Amino acid sequence: AEIRLNEKFGFEPLLGQQVWDWCEQLAVHSEQDDGLTVTYLSPAHRACAAQIAQWMAAECGFDQVGIDAVGNVVGVYHGQDPSARRLLTGSHYDTVRNGGKYDGRLGIFVPMACVRELFRQGRRLPFGIEVVAFAEEEGQRYPATFLGSGALAGQFDPAWLEQVDGAGISMRDAMRQAGLPASLEAIAALARDPAQYLGFVEVHIEQGPVLDGLDLPLGSVSSINGSRRYLGQINGQASHAGTTPMALRRDAATAAAELLLFLERRAAQVPDLVGTIGLLEVPNGSVNVVPGCCRFSLDIRATSDAVRDACVADTLAELQRICERRGLGHEIRQTLCAAAAPSAPAWQARWERAVAALGLPVHRLPSGAGHDAMKLHDMLPQAMLFVRGLNAGISHNPLESTSCDDAELAVRALQQLLDHLAKD
Ligand code: GLV
Ligand code: MN
Ligand code: MN
Ligand code: MN
Repeated sequence: AEIRLNEKFGFEPLLGQQVWDWCEQLAVHSEQDDGLTVTYLSPAHRACAAQIAQWMAAECGFDQVGIDAVGNVVGVYHGQDPSARRLLTGSHYDTVRNGGKYDGRLGIFVPMACVRELFRQGRRLPFGIEVVAFAEEEGQRYPATFLGSGALAGQFDPAWLEQVDGAGISMRDAMRQAGLPASLEAIAALARDPAQYLGFVEVHIEQGPVLDGLDLPLGSVSSINGSRRYLGQINGQASHAGTTPMALRRDAATAAAELLLFLERRAAQVPDLVGTIGLLEVPNGSVNVVPGCCRFSLDIRATSDAVRDACVADTLAELQRICERRGLGHEIRQTLCAAAAPSAPAWQARWERAVAALGLPVHRLPSGAGHDAMKLHDMLPQAMLFVRGLNAGISHNPLESTSCDDAELAVRALQQLLDHLAKD
């Protein structure tokens, strides 16, 4: 793209352009030709990790670069004293199926651009900077959401190694095939000692309409909404579609349809509460067979954990009622329970000071999406900066989009935060 002077701020977005170029170049690695799909430890995923590590080492001047036992890419830029405490920052490089180029990746490349500038200027800060490109945040190939950041927080669930993907490949085997040790000891060793870190900051595209609606490039995240996720299955009886009278059917899919509509109504009753059944399948279904089985997912989120949990309880009770009334069985298991993560006030204030220093209005907003910061929240003070998404912030969609100017402002905001922190 052509680099033009930003009319309002009068700068050339050279750093934003760099971030944008990295996003473009990383997006050549995908599991599908049309659309961006990068799920945990696929060949495209491994190629992304190698590419990020190469850029960190060859273009940005990090002192240490490596790929860890779960596939996170870790770059360390030392402070004036190499043993000084570090600021931890980063985001994820995996994507949802047919996702966007910026979700996660912006939060890797913005700090990489900052380190690159520091390196070019020969500048060292009183603290180190550790940038982590997290391997897994989206829970796509395995229901192991936040695996990458969870490993740093000492929250890797050993049962995950035994989980299998859609092709029957266990995570243990996927790790071995990727050349990772697949050992619980090696993974446990990734847990960070909070005493060695100042805090965690994450830059992320907003993935929602708020900043675009207000025509603001940056926003300060006040809290990350908590989420619960489940995988369930309704069991009925497969039978002939032409001969089974309507009254005698035990149709698992129509039961699931009732649940879908219940959740839609229930969630709509409360502002900020959202409920989604994003996976819905009739395994081995046929045009002429009454569905004997229906598998589904549940994802329920709210700003308040209590509001969310009340909706979860009502939805599970409704599932029970629907199945009893229709003479069906069901199974359901929780795959994620993440508590709401309010930003650490001191760190949120640092972002706000940085945004204000750029001459921008400070706007606070909660995050409806989940983020790696939720996991680091358990061990370090954390706060996030949101970058406007264009087209009303559409995300988890190939239309996700940002501008070089907004990426530039994100880099400049992080530079401000680093400068202020250096003086603290
Ligand atoms: C991850 O992107 C999530 O919030 O679902
Ligand atoms: Mn996402
Ligand atoms: Mn994300
Ligand atoms: Mn996410």
